[in-house]
Amino acid sequence: MKTVMVVVGTRPEIIKMAPIVRALRKNKIPTTFVHCGQHYDYNMSQQFIEDLELPSPDYTYKIRAYSPGAQTAQIILYMDKVLKETAPAVVLVEGDTNSVLAAAVAANKREVPVGHVEAGLRSFDLRMPEEHNRRLTDHLSTFLFAPTERAEANLKRESVWGKIYVTGNTVIDAVIQHLPIAERKSEILKKIRFEKFALATAHRAENVDAEAVLKTFMEVFASSPVPVVYPMHPRTKKRLRQNKMYAQIRKLENVQILPPLGYLDFLVLMKKSELIITDSGGIQEEATAPSIRKPVLVIRLSTERPEAVETGFAKVVGTDKHEILAAIGTALKRRKELPQTSPFGDGTAAEKIVEIIQKEFFA
Ligand code: UD1
Ligand code: UDP
Repeated sequence: MKTVMVVVGTRPEIIKMAPIVRALRKNKIPTTFVHCGQHYDYNMSQQFIEDLELPSPDYTYKIRAYSPGAQTAQIILYMDKVLKETAPAVVLVEGDTNSVLAAAVAANKREVPVGHVEAGLRSFDLRMPEEHNRRLTDHLSTFLFAPTERAEANLKRESVWGKIYVTGNTVIDAVIQHLPIAERKSEILKKIRFEKFALATAHRAENVDAEAVLKTFMEVFASSPVPVVYPMHPRTKKRLRQNKMYAQIRKLENVQILPPLGYLDFLVLMKKSELIITDSGGIQEEATAPSIRKPVLVIRLSTERPEAVETGFAKVVGTDKHEILAAIGTALKRRKELPQTSPFGDGTAAEKIVEIIQKEFFA
């Protein structure tokens, strides 16, 4: 039986693939769901399968590797075995993580076509492992599902050989499908110490692996004019501990550190926040969803989501303490209305992608 293989490896991939898994099931298209285990803690993996009411993966792996190269290599080996056993018609990957590149390479070596969801993003910042992963995956893919016309233009400029479709980003589908459930079910606000707060996240390697940048972020949160709620990524916690900063930040009165949160809790916090301070990719997109609509300060030197900046939702503020604090002050005072529509689509991206897959393989 021909199946569509959906591969996820990290938290954002589970969230962004959830609407596709759902649309495949709705259309009765046989699916093989694989979690290749780059993220393995309950609150970075299984929690999302539960929150998003996904089926249990048909194949699950947990990686035991300590370098990005070994991690990528282990996923290729694992995926090669799974692909041999299942021989899917097509493999869908999402985003720009090491899991995405590894699954795309493994599929290519087994001559299985790859569909890249969220194709064509470019930060033009080659310090980032994600920029290499997304470029390589785009050039290995037969189907490129670009979220925006700008992403499509990036792909055309690079003369990718696969077929490009502009579909929107499935993260907008995920927000639309899950915020009403989140508002009914989540109890996270009872645990938050502040009435008004900024929501912060930081995990990018080029930020938190650099001791000086990590220290700057903690100083910014400590002197922020608005209290900060900060669900902490395990990578960041590890780096704070290594640099002996973790105990200090936990003692701050105006910063509430939380473990990585489930999707329903995180959606509610985004909706309730005054503003979002982040180096995340997905959060820059979610902030533009009509039901969230929040200003985002991007604590990075670049973004691969310029559409969020051009529409007034996001501002790339860099990693300098004074610049970030000034930007927080300005964002808190701003009165300008944010747009009512998202540049990343209208919540129908997954349907569009599944329709294309259906026509190609199951017509
Ligand atoms: C990865 C992706 C990044 C994505 C992010 C989503 C790459 C190169 N990076 O970064 O693009 O934005 O996921 O969150 O693929 N760890 C745990 N438990 C877990 C997972 C990770 O403790 O469940 C810790 C481990 O110490 C690990 C470190 O975090 O070594 C980094 O994890 P890794 O998956 O390599 O990269 P992320 O920083 O999560
Ligand atoms: N997210 C979450 N809980 C958290 C932090 C983030 O559910 O504690 C969600 C967030 O809503 C978004 C995704 O995780 O959909 C973003 O993941 P992350 O920032 O780890 O990765 P990136 O998008 O930068 O690759």
